[in-house]
Amino acid sequence: MLTSETIHPDKGGTLTLGASDWRIGTILAADEREGAYYFRGENATLMLQPVNGSVVRVKLLPDHREDKHTTIAVQPEAFVPVASLLTEEPDGYRLALPEVTVAIRKENALLAFYTAAGELISDEAGLYRSGRGQYGCRKRMEPDSHVYGLGEKTGFLDKKGEKYDMWNSDVYDPHVPEIEALYVSIPFLIHFRYDKPAYGIFLDNPGRCSFDMRSGNDSYTFQTTSGTIDYYFVSGPDMKSVIQGYSRLTGTMDLPPAWAIGYHQSRYSYMSQEEVMTLAWTFREKQIPCDVIYLDIHYMDEYRVFTFDPVRFPRPQAMIEELKAMGIRIVPIVDPGVKKDPSYAAYREGIRSDYFCRKLEGELFIGNVWPGASAFPDFTEEEVRSWWGEQHRFYTDMGIHGIWNDMNEPAVFNESKTMDLDVVHRNDGRPKMHHEVHNLYGMLMSMATQQGLKQQLDGERPFVLTRAGYAGIQKYAATWTGDNRSFWEHLAMSIPMVLNLGLSGQPFSGPDIGGFAHHTSPELLARWTQAGAFYPYCRNHSVLESIRQEPWVFGPEIEDICRTYIRLRYSLLPYLYTLFHEAHETGLPVMRPLILEYPHDRQVYNCCDQFLVGQDLLVAPILRPSTEYRTVYLPAGEWIDYWSGERFAGGQHVMAHAPLERMPIYVRAGAVIAELRDESWKPVLDAGAQIVLTIRSAQAGTRVTGRWYEDDASTYAYEQGTYNLLEVASAFDEDAMTLDLRYLSKGMPNQRATMEIEVNDLNFVPKQLLVVTSEGDVELEAQGGSWSLDAASSKLKLVLSNAFEAITIKAVG
Ligand code: GLC
Repeated sequence: MLTSETIHPDKGGTLTLGASDWRIGTILAADEREGAYYFRGENATLMLQPVNGSVVRVKLLPDHREDKHTTIAVQPEAFVPVASLLTEEPDGYRLALPEVTVAIRKENALLAFYTAAGELISDEAGLYRSGRGQYGCRKRMEPDSHVYGLGEKTGFLDKKGEKYDMWNSDVYDPHVPEIEALYVSIPFLIHFRYDKPAYGIFLDNPGRCSFDMRSGNDSYTFQTTSGTIDYYFVSGPDMKSVIQGYSRLTGTMDLPPAWAIGYHQSRYSYMSQEEVMTLAWTFREKQIPCDVIYLDIHYMDEYRVFTFDPVRFPRPQAMIEELKAMGIRIVPIVDPGVKKDPSYAAYREGIRSDYFCRKLEGELFIGNVWPGASAFPDFTEEEVRSWWGEQHRFYTDMGIHGIWNDMNEPAVFNESKTMDLDVVHRNDGRPKMHHEVHNLYGMLMSMATQQGLKQQLDGERPFVLTRAGYAGIQKYAATWTGDNRSFWEHLAMSIPMVLNLGLSGQPFSGPDIGGFAHHTSPELLARWTQAGAFYPYCRNHSVLESIRQEPWVFGPEIEDICRTYIRLRYSLLPYLYTLFHEAHETGLPVMRPLILEYPHDRQVYNCCDQFLVGQDLLVAPILRPSTEYRTVYLPAGEWIDYWSGERFAGGQHVMAHAPLERMPIYVRAGAVIAELRDESWKPVLDAGAQIVLTIRSAQAGTRVTGRWYEDDASTYAYEQGTYNLLEVASAFDEDAMTLDLRYLSKGMPNQRATMEIEVNDLNFVPKQLLVVTSEGDVELEAQGGSWSLDAASSKLKLVLSNAFEAITIKAVG
């Protein structure tokens, strides 16, 4: 517990830079070499390296020594040849790239960034160094500036007015708005202004750094504590293109296996094989879908990774096989700490091969974690990563395809809460002190894990979950947001946290549903499961000795609510999976703040008590106890209440009725949503699953486009084009509706002979269903299709032969 001593006058903040007169100084010369431009200042050189037409890297070279090395976060293939032109003017230089121009003032080396059309995007107010050699950069901020991204942080969506540290930290204290650092550090921010070009800054520094949008009225700063300033300026013009630009730079996620986007159940810990089996049977008996059960630290033999406790889990392989036959996977936890125990193979091998972290003077770094004294692999070495990956054969040989990485900040039970800062990482021949690369440790562990699993799974996709990460973590693992509490405030906070993670290139994240520590309540579990059904990553997890929080523990009413919403998630899996495909292709998030889709609507700039899933679903969870009503903001367009079918014009707040069993959800009128129809409640999203494209009609004049992506749901064949991507444009008129269906890719052998479409609430009674052909309109039936109208539900049902590449269908009243 903190006491008043915390605010003792002798305890300054860690990142306050001491005043210093240091400046780059006047630029004396400029030259270009091997794709980078060097501006030679009196005291340092500034390197500008074009990455592509809209992204430029800015690196300060304090001792003028050229160094283009990047961290592992940056994809080498992101650098492409770019047409660039350097011109000299009396006061400075201009470096023009196709989509962004950088102006450098000779007098003080300050930078300004412009669009190709000459509009100012960002202006610099200072680049400085403290007396202790820490560097900072100050960029202008306007009264109407908004700041997003910055990874996993507490607080609201808009980060203007906040200050954060980037230092991966194991924070068991309740996550409150003033906590500046959590488990994941993504030093990437998006700067946004109404009707002005948006841009991003990615500071590629895995040591401790800070972003301060609070202290300056008209500027924000980012600073390092070790290493130089090395950042990427990502020009927009809009937020989506900034995210895409950042994602090209740091990579996008692989498609997850479909089972990983189902519902996951966890607990610290399910204590025995019997308990796990009973849990699985209960899910099946109660017909609550569940794809994954987690094994927390008690599955291990005295917390030794790569072991099973022989008493609690005497026949793990049999258990895993039995579960697999039921359609349930096991994901065990793996922490980085390897128990210091000469009789334990992993420790012995690590010692023999010198794979563990050592301190400057050469002795092994030993830290206390769950198993007691433990050694920590030096994941900065490729050889160590492949050794670690190889250890996972222990799991994959038993049929395990998913691993949960925890405590990988790394967390250590000592005063600093992490590894000693005088550990020297060998870093494949470029040694670094721990404090210089701290934020990379967890990501490198997940990279090792993912690569090991990939090698062992014979073409099947693995699933890795991690607590710690750095920029680019999306390439290796999903993240959950660590040890939250069963507080209503934490349910509310999870939304901006997951949204900003999504804006920071990590589309696959979610909090512990129900809350990890403290004790959930029936109402909180119901409300959190409702919201949680729409998080990209959906897992219920809770701490030792807290009240149980499996979906059924509070009796039939809460159980029914949980079942309904988990089933709802499963019915939407094809839609979600399509969004994951988009995230894989572009980096755009699955769960989106309204600002991403409606950047011209000032109402939504800090809106984070509701969110979008893709473009078509708007979810407005209840975030307070005993609350049956809430206002919901509907952005432009027309929105339909998912439950009642009631229609609302967008651009207004509506009052939604939300009794306990109902969370307000709205569907964008005209949207096409691929849904899974499977009444077995062991639903699986595999090739050939029963899918219906559902469309809620829209007003005359509306045209909406949607997509449906499908592949084998489990292998990497999609990388070779084995997938189908269908685009559907729906257009509505007074007494007609047109559907344009076109396969953008049809690389998978036909999975189904027919395609089913349902249209709700047409505002006319269709008399004819026609297929538009080059010879004129033909009755649908003549083309092997059929249709029916359910008068009671006013639902139009279509069945088409699925042999088409492109087809246009008209319903005429
Ligand atoms: C950490 C994790 C938590 C896990 C626990 C025991 O606190 O954040 O999810 O249950 O360790 O492994």
